[in-house]
Order: sequence, then C-alpha cells, then structure tokens
Amino acid sequence: MVTVRAPATSANLGSGFDVFGLALERPADVVRVERADETTIEVTGVGRQYIPENPAKNTAGVVAEELDAPAHIEIDKGVRPSSGLGSSAASAAAAAVALNELYDCGLTPTELVRVAAEGEAAVSGEAHADNVAPAILGGFTIVTDEDVTQVDASIPIVACLPEIVVSTRDARQVVPQSVGIGELVGTVGDAATLTAGMFRDDPELVGKGLRNNSLTGAREPLIKGFDAVRESALSAGATGVAVSGAGPSVLAVCREGGQGSVASAMLDAFFDVDVEARAYQTSIG
Ligand code: HSE
Repeated sequence: MVTVRAPATSANLGSGFDVFGLALERPADVVRVERADETTIEVTGVGRQYIPENPAKNTAGVVAEELDAPAHIEIDKGVRPSSGLGSSAASAAAAAVALNELYDCGLTPTELVRVAAEGEAAVSGEAHADNVAPAILGGFTIVTDEDVTQVDASIPIVACLPEIVVSTRDARQVVPQSVGIGELVGTVGDAATLTAGMFRDDPELVGKGLRNNSLTGAREPLIKGFDAVRESALSAGATGVAVSGAGPSVLAVCREGGQGSVASAMLDAFFDVDVEARAYQTSIG
C-alpha cells in the first residue's frame, strides 16, 4: 500500500495562461493505493458527491489504466471540485506518483506529469499540464509543449474560494482568441517579471507580474465581487491578485506574514456582496 498527499495548485497566474502553475501547501488530497486485480475507486472528503467513482470517469482511474497498474484507490478530497485550485489534477497527480511507486514503474517526475495530464484530458476533454506539473514537482512550474521547468519558490499566498460555480468551459470561452501587440508586450513583460520574482522569492515582483493581463482578465466578471475583493486585498497589503485557474478562487500574493489581514479583507469583500467564501492562508509549497 502507498499513500501520497497531492497539493492544491493554481494555474495561469495572470500572465501565464496555460503555462504557469504553482503548488500550494494547503489544501491537499490524500490518496492511498493498493494492488488489485481491477481498479476500483472510493472517494471521501469535500465535494465527494460531485466526483465519479467509475474508474473510466475519474482522473485517478484513467491514470491507473494508462500505467497498466490496477489498484483499489482511496481518494480523500481536501481540494473542492470546480474550485480553480486543481482538484482533478491533485487526484491525477497523486495517483500517478503512488502507482508509479506501488508497481515500481520507474517513470521520472516529468514523465509522470505527462501521464497525469492524460488522466485530466480523458475526463475534462483538454490536457492542461499547468496544474498536474506543480502538483507533482512542487514550487512554481512553467509548462510548454516540449518542456516542464520547475523552480523552488517561497512566497506567501492567500487562496480565497467563494461559493460560486464557474465552469471551466465557460471560463475558457471568454478568453480572447487574439490580442494586439500592446497587450502581447504587456503580457510578456508581466510573465518575465513574475518569473524573476519566483527566482528571487520576491513577493513584490511576483505581485507585479500578476496585475495586468490581457487573457485571464476576461474571466474576472464571472466572479461576483471580484473587483472589490481585489481592491480589498491590495489595500490590506497584497502585492497582486488574479483569478486562480479557471476560477472561482481568487489568488493573492502577500508579503511575509501578511496572509491574515489579506484573507480577512477578501472574506469581508465577498461577504459584502452576499457571497460565502473560505480563505486558505498558505504559501508556495
Ligand atoms: N489553464 C487552465 C485554464 C487551467 O485556465 O483554463 C484550468 O484547467
């Protein structure tokens, strides 16, 4: 039997649509695998009622099939489904890592990223490795068609999850299909600034890199109260705010020790527009 913990993740970070991702120290899924003749899945934890236990429809089950590693898989969800915090990626990543060990498959972490991304693709329709990469490798990750690059980073973060439903499909439809040269230059500048900030563990640079974006900014209107939540977070000391993944979670980059005041400001702002929310005070893990 093998047990692993797979963290929540946040993709895009404003300027890195489908490219950037980071692992959060919390929340997390815990996945336990045990050899079996055929794959079965048992789900407990937050949002379990929305997660299929049919292996063909569960990212972890698809990963077991991909690895030819049948197992009884127990998934204890800490990451709510449809949160913008990489819930299905956490299960796929955990299954890939745990089954690789259980069956001694010998795959490298980068190969496991590709396997876990296939698990996500089979269930969600599109393969985005920007969540599974940080879930497996930790830290900050940069995913391209050919490569996955990982950077250890230590940055304080608040992830605020409102009780709002945003479908990834809708969220992808609002992203512009083309941008002008001005927006492109701005996005490249933000992405480079953010990456430099990750190398330096500098929340000021990372926050600046989140601020102006021409692609994922189109998703902000899907989140009731987003503008007020962002302004409140910035007033409380956050250095930058962005939609986490496809939403509805909102990610705030904080200065050292600043998570508490930023979290309560964000919760207050959602409360003012009658939206219940919870805030994770965490950091890149
Ligand atoms: N990069 C993806 C998106 C992550 O923002 O749509 C969610 O799967």
